[in-house]
Parts: sequence; C-alpha cells; structure tokens
Amino acid sequence: MNPNRKPIIAGNWKMYKTAAEAVALVNELKRAVADVKESSVEIVVCPPFTALAAVGPVLANSNVKLGAQNVHWEKEGAFTGEIAPAMLKEHGVRYAIVGHSERRQFFGETDAGVNKRAKAALANGLRPIVCVGEMLAEREAGQTSAVVASQVRGCLAGFTQDEMLATVIAYEPVWAIGTGKTATPEQAQEVHALIRKLLGEWFGGDVASQVRIQYGGSVKPGNASALLGQPDIDGALVGGASLKAADFAGIIRGVL
Ligand code: 13P
Repeated sequence: MNPNRKPIIAGNWKMYKTAAEAVALVNELKRAVADVKESSVEIVVCPPFTALAAVGPVLANSNVKLGAQNVHWEKEGAFTGEIAPAMLKEHGVRYAIVGHSERRQFFGETDAGVNKRAKAALANGLRPIVCVGEMLAEREAGQTSAVVASQVRGCLAGFTQDEMLATVIAYEPVWAIGTGKTATPEQAQEVHALIRKLLGEWFGGDVASQVRIQYGGSVKPGNASALLGQPDIDGALVGGASLKAADFAGIIRGVL
C-alpha cells in the first residue's frame, strides 16, 4: 500500500446468494464493519444482478458501496442476458467488474469487449474494475509479463487520463483463483509494479501513481496483510472469503 492511494477491498460474490441471502449477508457485514471509516478504506460488494435491487437500499448511506459483476456497452437493445449501465445505476451501483477471468474462460470475453464494457461504464458514471491475469501454463512458460501487458493494453485502449483515474485494475492470476494457492506477496508485487510502470508509460507518472491496483486470488484474512503490505498492492478483489461477513471484515481490518 501507499498512503497516496486509498485501499479498496471488493467482494466478488460470483454466482452465490439469492436476493434474500444477499440482504442477510450485507446486514451482517454492515454490523461487522460499522466502525471502519470511509476515509481509511473503500469497501465494495458485488452481488449477482438479481440481488442488486434488494441490496441497494440496505447499503444506502453506509460505508459499503455496491458493485456489479459485469456491464454491457450498449444503452439498451437486443442483447439477451446482458445488463446496461443505467440498469445498474438505478440500484445504486458504483462499480462494475469487467473482464473477470471466468468471463474470459467460460463466456468468450476478449480484451476488445472488456474495453468497450469499461468505456461504457465510465461514460455512465460507473467505475470499472478491470481484471487481468495469466493462466498457470502462461506463468510456467515465462509469459506472465507479456500476457498481462497485452491484456492491460487491450482493456485500456483509448482511455483518457481521467478515465484511467476512475478505473481500478485487478491483477488476478488465474491459477490462484478459488484454488487456495495465493501468489506470494513478492510474485504479486512484481506484476503490480509492471502494471504501474506500463500505466506510467501510457498515461504519465502522475496518473500511474494514483491508480489503484487490487490483487485477487485466494485472499483470506490470514494472508491479506502480507499482500497489502506490498508497495504497489492497493487492495483486494475477494471471491470465496467475501461470502462470510467475518472473513471479509477480517480482510478489511488487515489494511487498517
Ligand atoms: P477467490 O478469492 O475465491 O480465489 O476468487 C478470487 C476472484 O476471482 C475474485 O474476483
């Protein structure tokens, strides 16, 4: 972490929790983090689309913000199964994850599509959380830097400085997602530093020094502080551990 960047801890609930279960979980979470100051850490939860309408009012005026797990680039239209930015904003959504590796692996999403989703989010006042990360075979072949650089370049193509500043990047090595195998703090820091260096080349050092880069992949209360202690790791994108209020609160407390 760096004192110039406010840490951001986001929970990606993936395809877990009905609307009723989601309300119960955010109520529990609100109690667990009631004393955490918004000035010290930004907290975001990203429930499934079907829970947003129910969860939005529960989080209003709290220190927990609402995010979505994806967003489409069009305002409306014949795009079966997709959700437009205005549909999210209506429920108080502030962040949208785009380009998660599960979307890339199982639903064919590409850097070009992620770029369109992120741009549309920004144009509509939503902050994208742009996910990048290498697969195990790519890491083993020594391709991590090339893969991540190419994803970051493709996903952020055509961004203005202001758009970059409103964006969060999440580095999630695919081999660390849901596997219990976390990247070591050093492995994660190396890639975060690379991403920040690239941002510096494309957007200037001032912008690069302000953009927040989260780590994701088996983050738990027990490993969060070591990861977040690294200079270029500015937060976490948490899957499994965000489904338990006590664990997610434990991760949040790790950055205080
Ligand atoms: P896990 O924390 O369950 O490994 O998931 C990480 C992730 O994919 C967050 O987007």
